[in-house]
Amino acid sequence: LINVNHTVPDNYKPPGMVNLRKTLPSDLVYVKGSEIEGTKEAVAALQDMFAAAKADGVTGFQISAGYRSVAYQQQLFDEKVAEYLKDGRTQASAVSATKLTVAIPGASEHHSGLAFDITVQGTIFKGTPQQIWLHKHCWDYGFIIRYQADKEKITGILAEDWHIRYVGQPHAQIMRENNWCLEEYIQANP
Ligand code: DAL
Ligand code: ZN
Repeated sequence: LINVNHTVPDNYKPPGMVNLRKTLPSDLVYVKGSEIEGTKEAVAALQDMFAAAKADGVTGFQISAGYRSVAYQQQLFDEKVAEYLKDGRTQASAVSATKLTVAIPGASEHHSGLAFDITVQGTIFKGTPQQIWLHKHCWDYGFIIRYQADKEKITGILAEDWHIRYVGQPHAQIMRENNWCLEEYIQANP
């Protein structure tokens, strides 16, 4: 579990990461950045998942984010705050609005190498066949839709259709069956 109450140290780097573009077949998924990394087990699960999607006739997925360092998350956080300040918000309001969509540095699942942002190039992800397939099937490959609209009060993060988190089996299945987010699952199974 990584969230605002369970952060990673500033220098955290997960062991056993691989480069996605070098690992995943390009006919299964487009990896947006040549530097995107993820842990080996999660990337193997991504490959199985996108192969299954292809077998179902659904292609055109893009991976737009994977592992992020705490320093990089700080940069993303600061950029979002600056955007809100430019819109005329106060510092406090800019920071609190940013926290709803960008995890504070140290609290992002992207630090784990187990979280990925899945999108479709050139369009809003929501409502695409790829998004619908992902939300239906990712659980079978050990991934969860980490930030859902009905769990915003618990996660503190606004719904993100594109952000998946590898938790493996049987965890993903149990969370799907019980409609539990990761915080609820861990609370129910300490
Ligand atoms: N956008 C998600 C919450 C993150 O920054 O990790
Ligand atoms: Zn994400």
